[in-house]
Amino acid sequence: MRHVAVIHGPNLNLLGTREPGIYGANTMEELDAAVAAEARALDVTVEFHQSNVEGELVTIVQQCRGKADGIVLNAGAYTHYSIALRDAIAAVGVPTVEVHLSNIHARETFRHDSVIAPVCLGQISGFGALSYVLGLRALIGVRGA
Ligand code: DQA
Repeated sequence: MRHVAVIHGPNLNLLGTREPGIYGANTMEELDAAVAAEARALDVTVEFHQSNVEGELVTIVQQCRGKADGIVLNAGAYTHYSIALRDAIAAVGVPTVEVHLSNIHARETFRHDSVIAPVCLGQISGFGALSYVLGLRALIGVRGA
């Protein structure tokens, strides 16, 4: 595991001002800085992406093939219904950890289902920015540093 792609889905660019009671006060850039610091400590490189567009996220996942050894993915609302994103993760075969800032299982019932979970290594949900950091650690732990 040398290089990891961190992918943020829709509305995560609004972190900091978006429902801070649920998603916290940190911006996406601050979150990325925390992940980058953890990556340095783990001696892996990271690249960051964000898109609000389902097809763009599919393309970003596809482009990880041959480029990234792992993916930390917060697919936002697409988590709950994007078969296209699920298929992309399955197609590229890059080990992927699903992360969420909030605990999706403690929220509205429509958030309880994740269509991407079956094609991910696992899911980390409910720890704010730490979910991403733990996702990175999980990738390294599973595949070896
Ligand atoms: C989220 C949870 C999703 O249900 C929601 O649509 C998001 C963010 C999270 O990080 O908690 O956009 O993925």
